[in-house]
Amino acid sequence: MASLVSCEYRDGIAIVTIDNPPVNAISQAVRAELLAFVHDLNRNTDIRAAVLRCAGRTFVAGADINELGKPPLAPALPEVADAIEGARVPWVAAIHGAALGGGLELSLACTARIADGQARLGLPEVTLGIIPGAGGTVRLPRLVPVPDAVEMVTGGKPVAATAALALGLVDRLCDEDLLSAAIGFADDLAARPGLPPLIGRPCRNATDMDWQGKATAIKAKARGAKAPMEALEALRDSAHLPAHEALKRERERFLRLAASDEAAALRYAFFSERSAGRSLASIASEPADLARVGVVGGGTMGAGIATALLLCGCEVQLLERDAAAAEAAHRRVGEMLDASVGRGSVSREAADQVRNRLAASSDDMPLVSCGLVIEAVFEDIDVKRDVFSRLDAIMPPDAVLATNTSYLDVNRLAEMTVDPTRVLGLHFFAPAHVMKLLEIVRGRHTGDRALATGAALAKRLKKTAVVSGVCHGFIGNRIMAAYRRDCEFMLLEGALPAQIDAAMRDFGFAMGVFEVQDLSGLDIAWAQRKSTASTRDPSLPYCHIADRLCEAGRLGRKTKKGWYDYGDGGQKVDPEVTRIIEEERARAGVNALSMSSVQIMQRILSVMQREGHALLVEGIAESASDIDLVMLTGYGFPRHRGGPMYLAAHESQRTPGSVPAAAIGAASPFKDWLIKP
Ligand code: 3HC
Ligand code: NAI
Repeated sequence: MASLVSCEYRDGIAIVTIDNPPVNAISQAVRAELLAFVHDLNRNTDIRAAVLRCAGRTFVAGADINELGKPPLAPALPEVADAIEGARVPWVAAIHGAALGGGLELSLACTARIADGQARLGLPEVTLGIIPGAGGTVRLPRLVPVPDAVEMVTGGKPVAATAALALGLVDRLCDEDLLSAAIGFADDLAARPGLPPLIGRPCRNATDMDWQGKATAIKAKARGAKAPMEALEALRDSAHLPAHEALKRERERFLRLAASDEAAALRYAFFSERSAGRSLASIASEPADLARVGVVGGGTMGAGIATALLLCGCEVQLLERDAAAAEAAHRRVGEMLDASVGRGSVSREAADQVRNRLAASSDDMPLVSCGLVIEAVFEDIDVKRDVFSRLDAIMPPDAVLATNTSYLDVNRLAEMTVDPTRVLGLHFFAPAHVMKLLEIVRGRHTGDRALATGAALAKRLKKTAVVSGVCHGFIGNRIMAAYRRDCEFMLLEGALPAQIDAAMRDFGFAMGVFEVQDLSGLDIAWAQRKSTASTRDPSLPYCHIADRLCEAGRLGRKTKKGWYDYGDGGQKVDPEVTRIIEEERARAGVNALSMSSVQIMQRILSVMQREGHALLVEGIAESASDIDLVMLTGYGFPRHRGGPMYLAAHESQRTPGSVPAAAIGAASPFKDWLIKP
């Protein structure tokens, strides 16, 4: 087998290169080869210093995630790091790309670090349900101030090279010929022997750390995930115990967490993200040109989509109904750009620059030079069919036409075109310039070029693309509609909105289903129920509670009343809502039963799983992991739980006291309807 680590020599400096594509993950083989070189160089008295660098697009991006959670294979990474730190000669890490996790830990074991200006450095282990396992929590706070180390380890966010220089995390930056600069640096260090290793130094600015305050903040944010708090505890050990004791405890914590359910779920989420949209990767067709993209409708979604497109370098031509609406849409995009500047996600200069690439008009002819047009007009099949008919008439035959519809039949829109192969769904999530998920909806006739265009767009926008077939609500909204409906049946059966919301929050959702409805408004779903009322099957049970709230003018936060009362700014249970629920229970002839938090959550999970299973059987979703990814990235499903389909496959990880999914809802008076075969 080809070696993964090599070494060359230049005037007494050893250049040790790790070459393990694609991201130089530090697998067992890499560890073994690297350790052997450390020992070799210790014995070679012709060597004055060593440079540790990587081939390819990045420095070491971390331990090999495939090995985590399995029995550790020798040599362990801490052994390699200790060997580098204790080496006879100084080692310099030359960092390009990303130095993450075990990669950063290796560099911390070196005597010094030099990075190029594009590098990013971080300890993202908490995002995988673990903590750094090779000295990160012990060496980092000895190099950068403890509060900064705490931020990096418990938050998991990498820092840019310039920030790393300011923190002292790297010693030098170099934008040209990193290797030569690293060799020069190694030479300098060779002339200054006796620099103490990090492990022998005290923690920096430890007294500035408010441990209690940070613990409270982490608890509020973690939504039940354990790793961030464990990371804080490891850093606290590091600040208060002798370094060797802190190292020992860090490793024990790391190994315990690596074997946890939370870490397994987060590894699954990591790999699900990377495997999403795989079917698109094999499409050979050329995508449409995305330099100039048209957006029809500049409301909430159209403006968000236009903002996202502008921020990734596209020119955008917006089409609205009339001049006033076009002006309002232009303003809306400007406000979204300003808000992005306010959030710090884009600089003022960049926002001002992209603003010039936006044009909004009520004339559709400027759309003609766009390679792709995305429709985001009202959710009304007739309005959308008109738009598609018009687009088909004016757009050149090679332009791709997309709809952002939430629920409507993409095939019925494609019917309005002469060539339906150029039509697809591109279902963004609100706010479209922030949310990472994009459902790429493949219609009956959608062709490869349209799909390739969707894939290229997702890549350009840095969004996670999941492919869905056509059905009411595609993957995400169909699952959400199903569990929302079931939650309303649970109200009839005995639960109250606050109980259901609390059960969801306890499970790890940021908000419960009724709180979300109050936030987004109850009127859109109400309008949809009214529009489909004439086609509803009267033999099926129907829950009237939401309709009654809307009829009473309770449309959510915007009317200060919805499922809750927001009269004085806070969110309060409203006896009026409880009364309506009780009246509806009486109308349905149901005797209310008490439901525990666990039962409520199991019921919600089982509905998600049942709908997910149906999506797979019907061929709407390509894989169970795609379904999970949609729920994690689009619907607030807690990432550390993996997703509903993951939980179904790992029954033991269900909430404590679990009962088999098949039994869930069996006691419901609505079971014939709820539990379809
Ligand atoms: N281990 C194994 N495989 C990895 C990996 C890792 N650490 N990091 C990335 N990969 C794989 C991906 O699965 C993907 O494989 P595929 O092509 O077969 O799908 C391939 O490398 C490329 O990855 P991306 O698609 O993510 O490439 P990008 O260029 O978009 O991103 C990256 C590169 C920023 C390095 C990103 O891959 C990343 O964030 N990786 C994970 C970093 C991380 O979490 N490191 C910590 C690991 S835990 C650890 O180090 C424990 C230690 O403390 C002991
Ligand atoms: P909106 O009501 O905020 O905006 C619709 C815009 O379309 C309005 O500005 C209107 O003037 C314009 N419009 C209507 N007819 C037009 C026409 N013939 N030509 C040009 N412009 C026209 O609606 P919103 O929320 O932006 O939704 C748009 C689409 O996106 C809908 O299909 C909706 O289902 C979908 N969607 C909405 C999400 C949301 O959270 N709001 C999320 C994902 C998809």
